[in-house]
Amino acid sequence: MKMFRKIIPVLIVIVIMVTFSACGKDNNKLVMATNAAFPPYEYYDNEAIVGIDVEIAKAIAEKLGKELVIEDMEFNSIIGAVQTGKADIGLAGMTVREDRLVSVNFSVPYTTASQVIIVREGSDIASPDDLADKSVGVQESTTGDIYVTDEMPDADVQRYSKGVEAVQALIQGKVDAVVIDNEPAKVFVQQNPGLQILPEAYTVEDYAIAISKKNEDLLNKINKALKELSEDGTLQSIIDKYISAD
Ligand code: ARG
Repeated sequence: MKMFRKIIPVLIVIVIMVTFSACGKDNNKLVMATNAAFPPYEYYDNEAIVGIDVEIAKAIAEKLGKELVIEDMEFNSIIGAVQTGKADIGLAGMTVREDRLVSVNFSVPYTTASQVIIVREGSDIASPDDLADKSVGVQESTTGDIYVTDEMPDADVQRYSKGVEAVQALIQGKVDAVVIDNEPAKVFVQQNPGLQILPEAYTVEDYAIAISKKNEDLLNKINKALKELSEDGTLQSIIDKYISAD
């Protein structure tokens, strides 16, 4: 019994220490949730995840004095990861939308984008209206998915976990068109002969960084960092490194 009386407090202390070190957030790290299948914003270059969003995140992390950690996941897991604190930020070419603002805060926008339509060369689809009763490939849960699903009730929407899979389906004739963000569209069309982007864009959108609603402080810090990066030209030079003016 005497033994136990000595051991129990020691055990309690150990349990408390282990619990805290496991739960305690590592304040030296900035964890970014992304979906690294979205060039030129985030994609794999061999083993490394690179791209515009990665460089923006690194520049922000540096300003906050933190080390950037990237967590690659499905696009539709990112908001949940930010909400639950698994990640500090969601940075994934993510469009600001009212329905997403219910779950997370968004930083000030860091760039604009649009949804475009990719078709096979020689396709009879020439404008968004022509999609109405076609089979359309999208990346699941993206704005492309949301628009086509909401606005084209007669379209057959095929949802893929990655944009590039939708593009493969288009090449194989499994879908008639793909609706996706303009810059990834350019990359995918460049990589796959026989495809073209329709001149008429579908939407205009703002990309911003998702941050937990519980972390107002981080939101303010990130907005401040983005403002500085924009004012000193860093943001534009990161974008120019990956997107050539056309
Ligand atoms: N901008 C679109 C959206 O917010 C697509 C983003 C997809 N991003 C990605 N990393 N896969 O829904």
